[in-house]
Amino acid sequence: MPVITNIDDLKALYRRRTPKMFYDYCESGSWTEQTFRENSSDFDDIYLRQRVAVDMSNRSTATQMIGQDVAMPVALAPVGLTGMQHADGEIKAARAAEAFGVPFTLSTMSINSIEDVAAATTKPFWFQLYTMKDQGFVSSLIQRAKDANCSALVITLDLQVLGQRHKDIKNGLSAPPKPTLANMINLATKWRWGMGMMKASRREFGNIVGHVEGVSDAADLGAWTAEQFDPTLDWNKVAKIKEEWGGKVILKGIIDPEDAKMALEVGADAIVVSNHGGRQLDGALSSIRALPGIMDAVGDATEVHLDSGIRSGQDVLKAVAMGAKGTYIGRAFVYGLGAMGQEGVTRALDVIHREMDVSMALCGRRRIDEVDRDILLVPEGFEGRWQ
Ligand code: GLV
Repeated sequence: MPVITNIDDLKALYRRRTPKMFYDYCESGSWTEQTFRENSSDFDDIYLRQRVAVDMSNRSTATQMIGQDVAMPVALAPVGLTGMQHADGEIKAARAAEAFGVPFTLSTMSINSIEDVAAATTKPFWFQLYTMKDQGFVSSLIQRAKDANCSALVITLDLQVLGQRHKDIKNGLSAPPKPTLANMINLATKWRWGMGMMKASRREFGNIVGHVEGVSDAADLGAWTAEQFDPTLDWNKVAKIKEEWGGKVILKGIIDPEDAKMALEVGADAIVVSNHGGRQLDGALSSIRALPGIMDAVGDATEVHLDSGIRSGQDVLKAVAMGAKGTYIGRAFVYGLGAMGQEGVTRALDVIHREMDVSMALCGRRRIDEVDRDILLVPEGFEGRWQ
């Protein structure tokens, strides 16, 4: 067993063990992948201020996100097709998150269903909603999430149409994979994945298949979004969904201060500064570069979270120091899952926790509520002076 010391170690193992089409699905951005790359590389432009001779005993990374206790300000992001990265992937990731004490967010486009995850866990998880043209289906998803005792609804606002990821088209991405020659050759080298999948409780989109009719190809994410996702979603509809849900609402996919203000108006409990991991609008600002402008626009009026680009505890620390109350990891936990199942997700969380805890200490802070802008060295004009 290789020694795992960082998220990249998990990624290397994940790449070896997972079919190419699912690795590529995870590791892609849209079009030129500029935003995908900058989401991570922009973190490198920010430096941490080392402080010395400060009492570093009795540290804690515990805090709250939307009023819920978390062991560190990191949640698992909703990731479509997680159950294709590893058999029963959503169940395994949710269990790892629960044991660690961080929120798990189930994607609408998951393989394990809302009910599967609820049956396999003991604490409430969060449900991410894509809005579909079929209002009845959206209402039934909301009701299913309520019945499963989900403690937040995460409404994704930035995927009414799908950004093009070239590799998904070239690979013929589907869940489950179609038995083409190229797939069979690749799958033959992924015996561990295949053995797991033979025993998996599901191999199709569990929230959808059997719950909705009239889709030409329920295995094809691209076809699904084109046919089913609601291109008319607007702030009025967001407000209606919030009312129908009646619980905590997190609005995900905000990268512009004007949209952050609109989210405030509809009464979001939190917003997620996110460009969908660079998978939607290629050429959009990275999330970390967008964060300061959004903090200025909304202040403390709502909780601001951040996803896209986080691969280390240092990244989490930087986002929190810039004002985010919480962050999300998507790819970083999928690497762990594909590498070694539930144990791998736990390893990913452990790696990030340790990196954050030690880096926080080396910045002279012992608790999350002591982490502030003062621990950062941010280059002048980092957030940009755009015209
Ligand atoms: C879906 O959320 C995707 O980014 O593929």
